[in-house]
Amino acid sequence: MSTQPSAGSRILLGVGGGIAAYKSVELVRRLSEQGCEVQVVMTRAATAFVGPLTFQAVSGRPARVEMLDPGAEAGMGHIELARWADQILIAPATADLMARLAAGIADDLLTTLVLASPAPLAIAPAMNQQMWRHPATQDNLARLCARGVQVIGPGVGIQACGDEGPGRMLEPAEIAAALHPARPLDGARVLLTAGPTREPLDPVRYLGNRSSGRMGYALAEALTALGARVTLVSGPTALTPPPLEQVVQVETALQMHAEVIARAAACELFVATAAVADYRPVAPAETKIKKEHAALEIRLERNPDILAEVAAHRPAPFTVGFAAETERVEHYARGKLVDKGLDMIAANRVGGPRGGFEREENALTVLWSDGQRELPMMAKPRLARALAELIAERYLEHHAPSS
Ligand code: C5P
Repeated sequence: MSTQPSAGSRILLGVGGGIAAYKSVELVRRLSEQGCEVQVVMTRAATAFVGPLTFQAVSGRPARVEMLDPGAEAGMGHIELARWADQILIAPATADLMARLAAGIADDLLTTLVLASPAPLAIAPAMNQQMWRHPATQDNLARLCARGVQVIGPGVGIQACGDEGPGRMLEPAEIAAALHPARPLDGARVLLTAGPTREPLDPVRYLGNRSSGRMGYALAEALTALGARVTLVSGPTALTPPPLEQVVQVETALQMHAEVIARAAACELFVATAAVADYRPVAPAETKIKKEHAALEIRLERNPDILAEVAAHRPAPFTVGFAAETERVEHYARGKLVDKGLDMIAANRVGGPRGGFEREENALTVLWSDGQRELPMMAKPRLARALAELIAERYLEHHAPSS
């Protein structure tokens, strides 16, 4: 596997105020050559070493410096910028910047973006060897490492100030190569349905179901963390969607069908977690149904099977379905895998004390044509991460050259 960020990665490069800032110009070039999009954000101190125009020239985007810059905010606001990034890399990271990052201080644009972004953070420290060795810096380093920050370098050698020891920023090529390996779904477009649907009976009533959408939303987030660009088509839920490429809110199965079919050709993976109503009222009443009669009959008609339709599309994306069963879980799930022509199906038991609906925890049996894996009972976000990794594994296997 490549050890370099893959083409298309969006890297927010933070430049701190140290003499090594001049090397970051070359770093932008290296990352761009690897196909990454680079947005430079400088601290004010950094501008004393290299002008923002230099970074603009090499990155093709104006370097951002000020937090409250109305012109820049009118383009991509700082929250959008925080969401835009797949990876934040700070090079050089000075002792002061490391201290502010460790303390969670957000007193300029760069440190604010770090707090506001879910993207992984890597830092390439650069400072005088005495400052690097100082217990305060070492404490900050330990805190950042404990939080999962990737620390690249520093190198050991002669420093700009004439000292010799640890604190030199690594060379741009070394930093570019040390960034986390490409994530398994980098750039893959995923279309994912989640939540229940509501089928109107009249203007105030509907047929619904108990799906909370939690598993689907957690899976959308977990797939995004693996590098996927996720479009979520969601039925009504009480959840706030995580930051995703696109979120489309729908109500009925027919609306979900239309939004999915319009996007199916443009995705590499389709994951159907939604609990789609199988039937809808034939003719929803235009006005509120009155309780005039002792009994009421409502005629229902079948909704389209969104998942089966996407799986039958040619070329079909890699399709992952869900099966909620009250009994013979594996048997029925394998039947659906075959009948709907899916690549993978995740089955869970519903009803009973260990059922998966409206719960914080769940367990899944995941099946594909020639294999299966058990994902035991765990909290839904963790289960979603385990399932996302399995989806990535099977998807990559599916696309592996067959030689
Ligand atoms: O056939 P069954 O409803 O049990 O299949 C469940 C799977 O099919 C789920 O992945 C669900 O999202 C999907 N489905 C769908 N459209 C429907 C019904 C189910 O996409 N109309």
